[in-house]
Amino acid sequence: MILYFSGSGNSEFVATKIAKGTNDSLISINEILKEEKVTEFNSNVPYVFVLPVYAGRMPRVVEKCIKNMKFNGNKKAYFIMTCFETPYDSMKSITKLCREINMSLVGFDYVNMPQCYIAMYDVPTHEQAMQIYKDALGKIDVISSSIEKQETFYNETKGMMMSTVVNPIFCSMMVSAKGFYTTDKCLKCGQCIKRCPLNNISTVDNQITWGKNCTHCMACINGCSRQAIEYKKSTQGKTRNYYIGKELLK
Ligand SMILES: Cc1cc2nc3c(=O)[nH]c(=O)nc-3n(C[C@H](O)[C@H](O)[C@H](O)COP(=O)(O)O)c2cc1C
Repeated sequence: MILYFSGSGNSEFVATKIAKGTNDSLISINEILKEEKVTEFNSNVPYVFVLPVYAGRMPRVVEKCIKNMKFNGNKKAYFIMTCFETPYDSMKSITKLCREINMSLVGFDYVNMPQCYIAMYDVPTHEQAMQIYKDALGKIDVISSSIEKQETFYNETKGMMMSTVVNPIFCSMMVSAKGFYTTDKCLKCGQCIKRCPLNNISTVDNQITWGKNCTHCMACINGCSRQAIEYKKSTQGKTRNYYIGKELLK
């Protein structure tokens, strides 16, 4: 069983490829979070988690959600991270999580994907992003094949205390929805409201409004087809890449 969380589609792409490669089922953690569902799973084969790296670890909201899930059957877990550059010391928090949910971590690796963090960094053009997807296909195949054979692999990377020191500072100082706003291109179509995995966007006095429960997944801003959402001054004129891998999945 493959469980994934994805803000802009990179992790969903990797998860879908792995599901196809291993002939396994696919579950969206976005939907579980959105519907605030209590979830229990049964699987005879190892569980596979595909998640983005947020400042050196898995997103904290996703970690909390996984802790509330119940996993029956197979007690082995693979964690495959997607990131722009490096997962830093992500494996540290994953090892701890596996201990807490009574699972044995049998595999850890990562796939380099396009930068999605438009609020903080430059992002690739659509063509560059597509090339990064194509370049990742070989590694995704290797990972899928190892998972199918139930091999053990730990491609652990170093982190300079990213997950333990930098991440908490980052979360408290940078992760806030305060900077998001809509421009006059906004048609109030409500797609951003539907997309937000944390139900943090609503319409107040006919205005699209962000609440306090934001994890900076960038689904709202990258997913707006009219580019009608901006974050402070840092996103103006930047490309929006959102679920771009669909054509490679056909
Ligand atoms: C809040 C945030 C923090 C990020 N931190 C890192 C990081 O520490 N290292 C890295 O290589 N990429 C980082 N990225 C880039 C994402 O991990 C990468 O683009 C990922 O593939 C996004 O997956 P998604 O489209 O499934 O959400 C970060 C992105 C966001 C939104």
